[in-house]
Amino acid sequence: MKKQVILLPGDGVGPEIMAGAKAVLDAVAMEFNHEFTYHEHAIGGDAIDRFDTPLPEDTIKACQTADAVLLGAVGGPKWSGRPASGSPESGLLGIRKALGLFANLRPVQSFTPLMHASPLKTELVAGCDIMIVRELTSGLYFGRPSGRSADGSEVVDTLHYTREEIERIVVRGFEAARKRKGRLTSVDKANVLESSRMWREIVEEKARDYPDVTVEHQLVDAAAMKLITNPRHFDVIVTENMFGDILSDEASVLTGSIGMLPSASLRADGLGLYEPVHGSAPDIAGEGIANPLGMILSAAMMLKYSFGMEEEAEAVEKAVIDCLEAGNHTHDLDVKNGNVFGTDMMVRKVVENLSSRS
Ligand code: NAI
Ligand code: MG
Repeated sequence: MKKQVILLPGDGVGPEIMAGAKAVLDAVAMEFNHEFTYHEHAIGGDAIDRFDTPLPEDTIKACQTADAVLLGAVGGPKWSGRPASGSPESGLLGIRKALGLFANLRPVQSFTPLMHASPLKTELVAGCDIMIVRELTSGLYFGRPSGRSADGSEVVDTLHYTREEIERIVVRGFEAARKRKGRLTSVDKANVLESSRMWREIVEEKARDYPDVTVEHQLVDAAAMKLITNPRHFDVIVTENMFGDILSDEASVLTGSIGMLPSASLRADGLGLYEPVHGSAPDIAGEGIANPLGMILSAAMMLKYSFGMEEEAEAVEKAVIDCLEAGNHTHDLDVKNGNVFGTDMMVRKVVENLSSRS
């Protein structure tokens, strides 16, 4: 298969880990007889420095015609003086919105070699495998009005959803559950928010189309507790933008390192943007020590969700797990008795595993 991938390395460790993902994709192309072509574009602080805007028009256009987009990370102290609307991070919100990437998928699974690094007891995290499906382009982060009154005495943000916006993300949740263990937890705040009441109604409506999926509703505060006290309870969680933002970061600590976690942001036609969950890690940028695995696992999600390459995606995931199980790790991973590698060496280990598949 021939596929065209847009690369948005961004800031900080972004370019370092992007190089790793590309090396792994090249190995996949070689092993499975595909042809991936790459075009690099600017976003975030990198785009501010070069084009004076966090999201150049050219970047949006390139992404719109691509088969998929891979993103590193954006942001850093260098640009912290800028207003929110012109910040590196606004480039990220902007590209998700411009491409209509309404469904954010964040898998959280426990890796056996890393389990002891989790702040939770091993017996709680063992076997943890959760998929969080978060609405990404609406809700509180985009609702209008939003802003301060002229005299600074009042401020407002608006939680706004249309029926259609809720329906399409809820359907994504059901579809994900159907392909997994068939359990869907819808998270809301229906005891307080009208938007959550409508969300609950829509989940109930859609549930009729998915008799094979068991549905439960949980209030977001209760769900936040349960993620820590009994994470294995969950299979798929579907929720609105801000609740999903918070719960997915909470869930991310279960695995022991933020450097391991991938994500996908999708729209209905299969176009997707794939990025690690972590930020630009300015504290270690340029040192060649960033963990590339979250970025590499994001590339694996791209193979699966945008290209339908399930076997290839599984091969990458297995190469990553084998790499960890052999004791190889980067400085952020607390693996007992192993080799601490820099970014490039870690990538090489994953590529070696891919190339020596039996
Ligand atoms: P961060 O995720 O960049 O870093 C948090 C901690 O985790 C740091 O100690 C960092 O060194 C470590 N870390 C993160 N990724 C790592 C990796 N791959 N390998 C090894 N260690 C890793 O979050 P932080 O420090 O809160 O934010 C830094 C900048 O990134 C900010 O400007 C923030 O706005 C931005 N950010 C961007 C995101 C994105 O592009 N999607 C998401 C989160 C934050
Ligand atoms: Mg977050």
